Amino acid sequence: TKGAAMVTAVASRVQAQRKLIDMVLALFRLTQEQLVGVQDKMRAELEYGLKRDTHPLATVKMLPTYVCGMPDGTEKGKFLALDLGGTNFRVLLVKIRSGRRSVRMYNKIFAIPLEIMQGTGEELFDHIVQCIADFLDYMGLKGAQLPLGFTFSFPCRQASIDKGTLIGWTKGFKATDCEGEDVVDMLREAIKRRNEFDLDIVAVVNDTVGTMMTCGYEDPNCEIGLIAGTGSNLCYMEEMRNIEQVEGDEGKMCINTEWGGFGDNGCIDDIRTQYDKEVDEGSLNPGKQRYEKMTSGMYLGEIVRQILIDLTKQGLLFRGQISERLRTRGIFETKFLSQIESDRLALLQVRRILQQLGLDSTCEDSIVVKEVCGAVSRRAAQLCGAGLAAIVEKRREDQGLEHMRITVGVDGTLYKLHPHFSRLLQETVKELAPRCDVTFMLSEDGSGKGAALITAVAKRLQQAGKN
Ligand code: GLC
Repeated sequence: TKGAAMVTAVASRVQAQRKLIDMVLALFRLTQEQLVGVQDKMRAELEYGLKRDTHPLATVKMLPTYVCGMPDGTEKGKFLALDLGGTNFRVLLVKIRSGRRSVRMYNKIFAIPLEIMQGTGEELFDHIVQCIADFLDYMGLKGAQLPLGFTFSFPCRQASIDKGTLIGWTKGFKATDCEGEDVVDMLREAIKRRNEFDLDIVAVVNDTVGTMMTCGYEDPNCEIGLIAGTGSNLCYMEEMRNIEQVEGDEGKMCINTEWGGFGDNGCIDDIRTQYDKEVDEGSLNPGKQRYEKMTSGMYLGEIVRQILIDLTKQGLLFRGQISERLRTRGIFETKFLSQIESDRLALLQVRRILQQLGLDSTCEDSIVVKEVCGAVSRRAAQLCGAGLAAIVEKRREDQGLEHMRITVGVDGTLYKLHPHFSRLLQETVKELAPRCDVTFMLSEDGSGKGAALITAVAKRLQQAGKN
């Protein structure tokens, strides 16, 4: 009987522990009603961003990009492209052949060391120019004055296609003396300082816009670009008459929403958890990009880590021992989350991944870790879906359509690598925007190809203007 009593005691302890874990997981489960609430608030914030009176204080900045049309297939030539702000920094040579709509690319990936990402602006741009020089040498292109498109994936206020004033850094960047400056000027000055070659910088482009363009090259129905990667953002084609910050009422212009800043006025605080707040406080830009911090690759692993620390403190995980590794920021990269959540993976393999991360787990631990990852990424996909639903519904209403078909060009490590994110995102959009028929098109290297296409179009217009 003593043994039996012990068994019951253990069983009830296990039950009590399970309850505590479930309570934490429940914080990440959003009801249909809550998701509709997010969709409605996103819709309201989009409108604030577009209107002249409310724009200055809007959290979703709705930045005009001066990209007004899609490539028409006549673009051709050789272009350089830079891609800064995603998982890697890259320099590319893009060859576009007209008619066949084919594009060939050569690229080189360069590391940007942390001390440069977070050093001075001059150092950052000198480093970029150093990488360009390496690439030109490598390709045997020094002295070949090619037109260049600069994919710069941060919020920029643009007054034309080749000017972009950085509003503020996001994600992992924090170089000094850049905010409020034109990044094209900064690049030009760094090229001058080096005094080795000249470049013709034609366009500065957000990665969402490059993604939309790349997909639009193949599918003219593509009027939205979505990134679910290190950061989270979306652009779309908006009617000129709705863009009060830009003169003119004819046609459409692409708007970079910078929706990552959604919620910075506290409007979604009701669904933020203590863990979201901890992640925000420990970030490079506290208080900013709150929606991005709930939906993108750079932060999902951090949310998971905060939950695991809390569960461990409560004695529910890792035998109550918080290891040094668990205290380390950034250990759960998107690729690890994706692996842990893969259905094909046996628990033993989950334990092996945790082992790689320096976390000793029991089999029970690995089950809980997997559940935590699942809850966090599911919420991210649903929130992202609610945001996208707001945009497609707006487009449908603006065009006075009963039913609308639209294609979304998508890129980003979270969307591409994660085993469930894309499906959950699509399901959410279907539920929240039932009158829109949304096709998702994976973009092949939108940041490089898209920048080159935009540069080609801009160059053509530039030359037409001269004649
Ligand atoms: C961040 C940037 C945004 C970019 C997104 C995806 O949200 O602010 O400009 O598009 O990350 O890279």
